[in-house]
Amino acid sequence: MRFSNLLLALLPLSSSALAAQLPFRASNQYEHEEHHRLSSASFKTLRHPALPAHSLRVTTPPAEICERNVGAKSFAGYLDVDLDKLRSHRQFHGSQSIHELQDEDHSHSLQDQGVVEHFYFWAFESRNDPLNDPVVLWLNGGPGCSSFTGLLMELGPCNARQPDSHGPGTEWNPWAWNNNATMIFLDQPVGTGLSYVSWSNTSRTDKPPSRIFSTPAAARDASAFLHLLALHAGREILGFDESQPEAHHGALTTKKLKNIPSFHMSGESYAGRYLPLIASQILRDNEQAKAHPERGLEPLPLASVLIGNGITSPKDQFPAYVDYACTNASGRGEPFFSKAQCDKMYAQVPVCLTLVEKCNARLPPDQRYDSLACQTASTYCEGALSSPWDKLNVSYYDWKHGPEYEEEAWVAAFLNDVNIRSDLGVDRFGPGDKHDGVFEGCSDAVYRNFEKTGDGARDSTWAVEDILSKGVRVLSYSGRRDFICNYVGNRRWVEGLDWQGSKEFKKLELKPWYIQTGDDSEPRLAGEFKNHEGLTYAIVDEAGHFVPHDQPAAALTMFNRWLHQPGDGRL
Ligand SMILES: *[C@@H]1O[C@H](CO)[C@@H](O)[C@H](O)[C@H]1NC(C)=O
Ligand SMILES: *[C@@H]1O[C@H](CO)[C@@H](O)[C@H](O)[C@H]1NC(C)=O
Ligand SMILES: *[C@@H]1O[C@H](CO)[C@@H](O)[C@H](O)[C@H]1NC(C)=O
Ligand SMILES: *[C@@H]1O[C@H](CO)[C@@H](O)[C@H](O)[C@H]1NC(C)=O
Repeated sequence: MRFSNLLLALLPLSSSALAAQLPFRASNQYEHEEHHRLSSASFKTLRHPALPAHSLRVTTPPAEICERNVGAKSFAGYLDVDLDKLRSHRQFHGSQSIHELQDEDHSHSLQDQGVVEHFYFWAFESRNDPLNDPVVLWLNGGPGCSSFTGLLMELGPCNARQPDSHGPGTEWNPWAWNNNATMIFLDQPVGTGLSYVSWSNTSRTDKPPSRIFSTPAAARDASAFLHLLALHAGREILGFDESQPEAHHGALTTKKLKNIPSFHMSGESYAGRYLPLIASQILRDNEQAKAHPERGLEPLPLASVLIGNGITSPKDQFPAYVDYACTNASGRGEPFFSKAQCDKMYAQVPVCLTLVEKCNARLPPDQRYDSLACQTASTYCEGALSSPWDKLNVSYYDWKHGPEYEEEAWVAAFLNDVNIRSDLGVDRFGPGDKHDGVFEGCSDAVYRNFEKTGDGARDSTWAVEDILSKGVRVLSYSGRRDFICNYVGNRRWVEGLDWQGSKEFKKLELKPWYIQTGDDSEPRLAGEFKNHEGLTYAIVDEAGHFVPHDQPAAALTMFNRWLHQPGDGRL
């Protein structure tokens, strides 16, 4: 459920992907506001006058389906974005970044008329101290893979279990990341997981277009979502202070935030591209919020970003395929490929790097990327440097694991169960990009849209440098057994960052870090790390791409130390 990057480019277009493009059907017996509701779940709708195109529908799923043992509250629902309103608001207000619609990737805006986007999220209060614990967003990668994979097989309060005679279901997860933090899982960009697009005219039966073609465009929606959620989702999620005077906004009474707990963003794989750009977007939107207090938007207290096995720097990650597979770096004791195969791959690295450089040389005067160059770069580099891994018949995500993860089917079975859907308030004609109501871990259509802009070859380290220089802490962690976004490449880009601490960071040696699982047990070696000021790089031993799935105790320890331990960044 998460291609780290462009593996799909190598696969033929599957016939099932085409056959499933059923015409979109909607019924006009529902009011637009009702969003073709499947379930009896009741929603509260939250709006803000400064974000007229956006609204948030929130419901409370029953505790039994996931976070049952502790009863920490959960919230689920949709961010609905009306693109016509977004467009007219922008014309009215100029190009405030959060409202910006048109850019290089939105050349199809005429097609977008009459379109509404629906982003699904599920959030879980901290099991410990929801009013004061940090709030953390989690994103899976893809592009186009659902964050519910992370929720239900990695770090959520429950894991999907194998369906049995009672049907699909979940088990409680003692190592959940909401032990000491409120966690928000969001399906983005639209078309991913439970998120989808519909027409505002519910009589239309043709298939609506997808809008998001690249990460910068997706980042604006994510920032709008988070600003709305921060403002409105209730004291249970973000610490509204009951004692503050109430403000009346739109349909619902909202309360002023008190000291909102710190906010962090985490994710893995392609989220290594999303997160830096979303973070950078949030800082820009925060500036706007401060410059225009009359709009009534609060800055988000973004404190840190956590990137697990991320594709953040293609120029470091592509060559690292070869460095990982053709040396001892994996810990396997010998290379994965023959000397002849490795020589061939090494010889292709310079071509790949030239193409990546061309992709990332932005075109003056408007700083646009050359989408064709970017597409060429990813196709060439993935084909030459990562596709040989296929022959090994081991997972791209963990060389000690077979090619398939059976948990993915359990996640899909859970989210395709009619009763669970109803409990979660999932819309009738969601989810996903195909409008056939079937949840899929990864969307081929979203993937292909990103492929068209060559998004996977674009560099994101500039955004990491931007946020680091503005005081947002950054943790890059890597499971050592992952091939596809491997630790060799992760270390290279982290050490290559241009920021105020570059020199000192580069000089530091890796040090071991330990976890303690029981009160009287000996500390156990969990990996290596280094830290200088706001930047930490960590390796997690005995883990692949899905670190919390493979090493739940180590992952939770790392997460909690990063969020809570004074002396920032030392594991
Ligand atoms: C995490 O939560 C547990 C209770 O579940 C609490 O005992 C512990 O102190 C919390 N840790 C931090 C760092 O807040
Ligand atoms: C809505 O769509 C239907 C079907 O395409 C069309 O007949 C109707 O004119 C549309 N209504 C509006 C207000 O555009
Ligand atoms: C790989 O490891 C073996 C034994 O640990 C060592 O002899 C060899 O030189 C290493 N090879 C590389 C390329 O590092
Ligand atoms: C690949 O590995 C799986 C088990 O991990 C095995 O069932 C399958 O037969 C293998 N395929 C080939 C072509 O070796």
